[in-house]
Amino acid sequence: MIKYSTIKKKFNIEVERTTDNGVAHLTHYFQNHVNGVSRHYKKSAIEHLIQISEELQLAEEPQMQQFLPLKFDVPFPPPIDYEFTFIDLFAGIGGFRIPIQELKGKCVFTSEFNYWAQKTYEHNFGEVPFGDITNLNLDIVPKHDVLTAGFPCQPFSISGKMKGFEDTRGTLIYNVLQIIEKRQPRVVFLENVKHLIHHDGGNTLRTILKHLEDLGYKTSWKLLNASDFGVPQNRERVIIIGHKTKKFDFTKLKTKPKKILKDFLDENAKFEYLNEPYTILTDYKVQESGLIFIGHRNKSIRKAGVRPGTEHLSRVHKQPNRIYSAEGLHPALPSQESSGRFWIYDKGEVRKLTINECYRIMGFPDKFIKTTNLSESYRQIGNSVCVPMIKEITKEIKTQLL
Ligand SMILES: C[S@@+](CC[C@H](N)C(=O)[O-])C[C@H]1O[C@@H](n2cnc3c(N)ncnc32)[C@H](O)[C@@H]1O
Repeated sequence: MIKYSTIKKKFNIEVERTTDNGVAHLTHYFQNHVNGVSRHYKKSAIEHLIQISEELQLAEEPQMQQFLPLKFDVPFPPPIDYEFTFIDLFAGIGGFRIPIQELKGKCVFTSEFNYWAQKTYEHNFGEVPFGDITNLNLDIVPKHDVLTAGFPCQPFSISGKMKGFEDTRGTLIYNVLQIIEKRQPRVVFLENVKHLIHHDGGNTLRTILKHLEDLGYKTSWKLLNASDFGVPQNRERVIIIGHKTKKFDFTKLKTKPKKILKDFLDENAKFEYLNEPYTILTDYKVQESGLIFIGHRNKSIRKAGVRPGTEHLSRVHKQPNRIYSAEGLHPALPSQESSGRFWIYDKGEVRKLTINECYRIMGFPDKFIKTTNLSESYRQIGNSVCVPMIKEITKEIKTQLL
């Protein structure tokens, strides 16, 4: 069997800074040639090859077949005996795809428009995502069992009467709803930040649920915390599940006892210690969430609204100035912190969490290939999902809904 890496070299499969989806068509064709889905990608895959290939005959279908099936020598190859199909929207670096593939889900379509994320995705899965979802010809999206989307929380407010999902036009959820309407997946699996619950006084979440229900789905949603699924991170996310006939029962999810950061740290690494003045508190306490705010860099603190005598509280210090104890949880890794100023107190010293530790506390397997661009790597993991949490939800989706 020919290896993907050989074909990658031969056909120069690289993510380019262009809006052209040629290489996405080609890799989607290679990944889907035996499951009846390849016809969605074939024509454009061939066109792409003709464009890039000097030897035109290579690009014709019968010749292309000679390379198939490929052996995907990437960290996360597609499952061989898959049991259901899914699509990965706003795919980032594949936080959904890793656990869903482990549970025998076959990804049949991916979309992600960020150049750096697309590159990381291709290195790990051997597939280049399609770009901007707002410019997609929906005909290329195949039918699928599960639609997943960790869509960016883009504020929108409802204009006029709630007549169909047209009132969300111009927002990314509109594009998701369009795909749902067209392809009618059995399950819709959405993820978003906690703030979605409160956005526009709850209207945004209500609107999303209403539109899913109008499209024929029974919906349920819950705020879940990554720390209940085996990683030491206080990361709360809203999960929305829709199904044609049944309501997903969140109470069936199996949670785990909370873990602490200490057990996820590197033994030996090039640690970056804090070499500037800082304060370690003596009167710290374990917060209800499991966080232990144990100190801060000696930078100026927030002044507005701060009551005298509360200067020791974490919330008066900006996030990059806070120090958390390795004996507790870590706060949610944000995507905006591209220089990785996540300070921890471990073995009597203050140091940054390493990039490997960041991926570990999101539950990414060690074999995951990170981008070598460090600030992008911090951004990508901060944007992603907690892998074990997605895995547990998918297990229950399989049991309850598929
Ligand atoms: C919250 S992140 C989701 C990350 C993903 N769940 C993961 O595991 O890495 C949202 C992603 O949507 C992508 N995105 C935003 N607007 C998009 C668009 N119009 N088309 C395609 N992708 C888009 C961003 O680049 C970002 O990677």
